[in-house]
Amino acid sequence: MIALGCDHGGFELKQEIKKHLDEQKIPYIDYGCDSLESTDYPIYAKRVAKAILSGECDKGILICGTGIGISITANKFKGIRAALCSDCFSAEATRLHNDANILAMGGRVVGPGHALKIVDTFLNTPFSGDERHMRRIRQIETD
Ligand code: RB5
Repeated sequence: MIALGCDHGGFELKQEIKKHLDEQKIPYIDYGCDSLESTDYPIYAKRVAKAILSGECDKGILICGTGIGISITANKFKGIRAALCSDCFSAEATRLHNDANILAMGGRVVGPGHALKIVDTFLNTPFSGDERHMRRIRQIETD
């Protein structure tokens, strides 16, 4: 199950992503927002982070205008690894190396065509499981 969240700056791109996931019959839960009306990105970052940490969802996609505020917020949660990506190379690498559980994007940064390729890359790339990457992820979690 994929958790989706955005603020007004990411709303239009989230709509495109929902259509794309529907076409592929990939299940998702939309944690808002629900319109272009100005709102606060931390609300949605927190909802999506909690959905992943509770096990309700496996991965998340968060979008704000830049992807920055929403990823900063999500990364405050222990166990969340939100990767801000604007290209497929990064989306692939962050799954292989960081086992990222949230893809963050900027709705005002990436065009919809490119964004959907980034989503596909993120969702279809497994974690490598390599010991060195597991070690580094463990190091993220310890002070
Ligand atoms: C909203 O205008 C904008 O600040 C927000 O979407 C995001 O870019 C913050 O990082």
